[in-house]
Amino acid sequence: MIDLFAKFDDVIAMREGLLASGVTDPFNLVMERVESPTVAICNGKRTILLGTYNYMGMTFDPDVIAAGKKALDEFGSGTTGSRVLNGTYGGHKAVEQALKDFYAMDHAMVFSTGYQANLGVISTIAGKEDYIVLDIDSHASIYDGCAMGNAQIVPFRHNDIEALEKRLKRIPEGAGKLVVLEGVYSMMGDIAPLKEMVAVSKANGAMVLVDEAHSMGFIGEHGRGVAEAQGVIDDVDFIIGTFSKSVGTVGGFCVSNHPKFEILRLVCRPYVFTASLPPSVVATATTSIRKLMDSADKRAHLWENSKRLHGGLRQLGFMLGTDEPQSAIIAVIMPDLEKGAAMWEALLNEGLYVNLARPPATPAGMTLLRCSLCALHTEEQVGEILGMFAAAGRATGCIS
Ligand SMILES: Cc1ncc(COP(=O)(O)O)c(C=O)c1O
Repeated sequence: MIDLFAKFDDVIAMREGLLASGVTDPFNLVMERVESPTVAICNGKRTILLGTYNYMGMTFDPDVIAAGKKALDEFGSGTTGSRVLNGTYGGHKAVEQALKDFYAMDHAMVFSTGYQANLGVISTIAGKEDYIVLDIDSHASIYDGCAMGNAQIVPFRHNDIEALEKRLKRIPEGAGKLVVLEGVYSMMGDIAPLKEMVAVSKANGAMVLVDEAHSMGFIGEHGRGVAEAQGVIDDVDFIIGTFSKSVGTVGGFCVSNHPKFEILRLVCRPYVFTASLPPSVVATATTSIRKLMDSADKRAHLWENSKRLHGGLRQLGFMLGTDEPQSAIIAVIMPDLEKGAAMWEALLNEGLYVNLARPPATPAGMTLLRCSLCALHTEEQVGEILGMFAAAGRATGCIS
């Protein structure tokens, strides 16, 4: 018998090697109590959260919580069915309407996760005979969507406009083309040059899908994302998003102005062959999305936080993923996994939680400490965070 788990031996060795050094397992932390979007109790200790995707701090919003409780009382704990059978309630329609209003688009389709939204939309619209041109640093759900549809995959160098154009020009005449981009790339926290990339894609006859998972609610005048901020949202054919970040719950979606968009509800397998989101989840999402429409002050404060943290970390001597803050994510580059894990643990002991990210999720084999800010982090908390980075950085020899 061939042990089908043999393929994981490298990962097992990496994990055992890391734990043998005595470091706390960075991928097994328990949030014992969550007090607010910015503070939790971990290992019995008050810990500032700087590694969640709770960019707009909606998880404890009183209106959001009240909407969820009301829906739970009125509609029960789950739908136990697909959207195309018994799983469409008024709440699912309401959240799709909220998305249409938020993005000012004609159509919105809600999936059970953002992962499934990418999986479903990409695999359904780009099939065997079609070409998908995508940034090499694309999220796993994008790659999985490409693989599921059996389209020809043509990757190009991260954020390289010329490389995108070259790839597009090499595709045979008459073939279907989909360009897949992200607004914010979540590992390094950098944004895409969407203005140029969308123009190049359109000039070469491609449809464009942009995953705005990490920009919704924050970037752009109305929080519609990087495509809005760069003035090209009307030229984007499909926007993919998630409820698991700024919206503060779980779920995924696609919005579009394509006149035939609604047919996806019948042909998109990750939409059809799974249960719909619980009524309490869609109720919290609807309330949250509607509140995000009116959150300019929070957006401004989050930018302040991002600038303050980026500048402070730089001053301390850390190497960062971007020269300037471009989003709510600030990536601190570590020399290797061992140092990264030691620094991660030292920060946790100081009372700070960040994400430790390692290959294959990260580009170029890097180990990163990913910091994601929240609009509810106070100026004082950002100061505290910088103090913790200074202490942990010196203790582990990451900075002098
Ligand atoms: C760019 C991007 N797309 C999609 C997803 C999937 O979102 P969800 O958590 O809703 O499955 C993520 C999640 O991390 C992401 O970073």
